Amino acid sequence: MGTTQQAPRDLIDAALAARDKAYAPYSKFHVGAALRTGNGQIIAGCNVENAAYPEGVCAEAGAISAMVLSGETKFDEIVVVGLGDVACTPCGGCRQKIREFTGPDATIFIINDQGETLLTLTREALIPHSFGPENLK
Ligand code: THU
Repeated sequence: MGTTQQAPRDLIDAALAARDKAYAPYSKFHVGAALRTGNGQIIAGCNVENAAYPEGVCAEAGAISAMVLSGETKFDEIVVVGLGDVACTPCGGCRQKIREFTGPDATIFIINDQGETLLTLTREALIPHSFGPENLK
């Protein structure tokens, strides 16, 4: 049996630090995400809620927006951390956002509070048979 590929330390630290900044007074569920762009930059995001509940923004979405603002449109790795020991897997909308900016072999790591890797997935496993830019050609 193979061992689970562990999340890289620098992305773990960035995701945990981002989670500390989460604005989640409604759900009280704090999430952090950190991705590594094609040119090696680390960019993080946290979830940001507001009183109109459905208008909140996920941590992954925040990181992706910041990445695009920085001039990058590709990433190969992303680490996501929620609360406790239950894997905080990206929601459907975030899967689609991750899809836009990754190749099928990109890696999605879900970690716990202690920085331990709970789940390591390829993007293809996260969102199989996905709809992407190629479908529009
Ligand atoms: N959330 C994320 O930020 N990322 C995920 O992967 C799952 C859920 C946020 C949305 C909301 O602010 C809170 O977690 C509870 O759903």
